[in-house]
Amino acid sequence: MQNVTLNNGVEMPILGFGVFQIPDEETQIAVEAALEAGYRHLDTAASYGNESAVGAAIKASGIPRGDLFVTTKLWIQHAPTGNVQEDTNRTFANSLDRLGMDYVDLYLIHQPLGDYYSEWRAMQDINKEGRARAIGVSNFHPDRLVDLIDHNEIVPAVNQIETHPFHQRAADQALMIERGVQIESWGPFAEGRNNLFTDPVLSAVAEDHGKSVAQVVLRWLIQRDVVVIPKSIRPERMAQNLDVFDFTLTDEQMGRIATLDTGASLFFDHRDPAMVSWLGNRRYS
Ligand SMILES: NC(=O)c1ccc[n+]([C@@H]2O[C@H](COP(=O)([O-])OP(=O)(O)OC[C@H]3O[C@@H](n4cnc5c(N)ncnc54)[C@H](OP(=O)(O)O)[C@@H]3O)[C@@H](O)[C@H]2O)c1
Repeated sequence: MQNVTLNNGVEMPILGFGVFQIPDEETQIAVEAALEAGYRHLDTAASYGNESAVGAAIKASGIPRGDLFVTTKLWIQHAPTGNVQEDTNRTFANSLDRLGMDYVDLYLIHQPLGDYYSEWRAMQDINKEGRARAIGVSNFHPDRLVDLIDHNEIVPAVNQIETHPFHQRAADQALMIERGVQIESWGPFAEGRNNLFTDPVLSAVAEDHGKSVAQVVLRWLIQRDVVVIPKSIRPERMAQNLDVFDFTLTDEQMGRIATLDTGASLFFDHRDPAMVSWLGNRRYS
């Protein structure tokens, strides 16, 4: 597996397995199958409600903890104690308990909402204590990312953002490279929106290589040095999504895929007040 080196020297596999929207009761089976297929990088979150199942699958696999890269995410804290830093610590401890681990490889602020400066201060301590080998953020637009960096000690190692052929994020990535932040794609297939799997441009490139559209999309992201975490509940697709290291897209093919960019989200706008309020009023600890 190809790795990227994060800004604190930690190595992160460029391809992993995401478990968003896999129901809790199906997650253990799916993660066991993913580990069997060869995935060693897993991406979950407190808000997915399936950290315990991820932990159970890891335990059942017998794979040494040191061979795995595990990410989880902190949901927006609501400070029932009146202290967001304390709440962040408690919420992080809950995630570790559910995962059955004494550290995670990457801990992310899930949303750029609420008092995430206090959350980040707590996460800096968690990182220094070695309970998260790296810390980062998710869904941060460049302005929020730069502001967080400029007013804190530790630069986020990763920003996990919606990135796929219809929302390519080239300018965001350029800024992240300048600031030492690794881009990670969520929704690499746009969850199939915009008929991604039958898109004519992607299908033509796939045909050139005797690969699937899914494989071309993952290859395109990896060639852009974007970390990817595709989700599938089907073992044959899990295997297919891992099998993307034996072909290379040409500059001409990369250029053709570049034309698909719409520059806009296919999911939600973090600057829409209704969405901000909806996300901000959900509770996970
Ligand atoms: N930070 C955030 O706010 C955030 C938001 C969303 C997602 N994420 C993370 O990113 C991960 C990936 O994103 P996502 O789960 O939203 O969507 P995605 O990976 O873009 O798409 C998943 C969909 O594609 C299908 N699929 C997978 N492989 C396929 C293949 N080879 N051929 C055809 N269809 C295929 C899956 O169906 P089957 O399962 O039926 O195969 C599923 O419907 C998540 O699991 C999560 O870890 C993070």
